[in-house]
Amino acid sequence: MTDRYFYQPAQGHGLPHDPFNAIVGPRPIGWISTRTERGGLNLAPYSFFNAFNYTPPLIGFSSQGRKDTLRNIEHNGEFVWNLATRPLAEAMNASCAPAPPDVDEFQLAGLTPTPSRIVSVPRVLESPVSFECRCSQIIRLQSAAGEDTNGWLVMGEVVGVHIAHELLRDGIYDTAGSQTILRGGGPADYFEIGPDNLFRMRRPDYP
Ligand SMILES: Cc1cc2nc3c(=O)[nH]c(=O)nc-3n(C[C@H](O)[C@H](O)[C@H](O)COP(=O)(O)O)c2cc1C
Repeated sequence: MTDRYFYQPAQGHGLPHDPFNAIVGPRPIGWISTRTERGGLNLAPYSFFNAFNYTPPLIGFSSQGRKDTLRNIEHNGEFVWNLATRPLAEAMNASCAPAPPDVDEFQLAGLTPTPSRIVSVPRVLESPVSFECRCSQIIRLQSAAGEDTNGWLVMGEVVGVHIAHELLRDGIYDTAGSQTILRGGGPADYFEIGPDNLFRMRRPDYP
């Protein structure tokens, strides 16, 4: 018995639930709207999601398998990221239903598509923040041995940003007031951001 539980993922975790997602968590949610090849609408959450670059701002998410969102972006190169918040949690969850490509998850989840300013894909009106994005790269993820996996990383440049005025306090974006939700582990765990989660720490000077 050592002081750490150890496993090699390739040989299985040996636990009731894979802890990987719970450890790398809570994760922000990429709530992604896209347009289908036939002009319909699509909306789905992706928690393998984050921001990766400042200039230009780049965000990315990974599709585990070739899902509708990936296919739509491959086709027309555009998507919109929408902030998932506590009041929108149930709608976000409803939008993940494995519906056929032609089903509009905006309708399914009771959400309102509203036109973007730059891209042809609508944003979620009810969401307080949206990023209009142009796809910059789609990368088929590989294992360390160079084998293709079933994962695709979709990267996009943020070309337009919408922020609800109430989340700009004296011009500063109010993360603590946004009620942003984050995905935890297990089948159903989420976290909500609020003022109680905030602490401040400045980077050290050297030496
Ligand atoms: C909170 C949440 C996070 C999710 N994250 C991912 C993810 O990172 N990658 C993925 O492939 N699927 C993820 N899913 C599942 C997709 O949302 C689901 O497969 C959806 O039906 C895909 O829709 P699409 O085919 O319209 O793109 C997630 C679901 C939920 C509820």
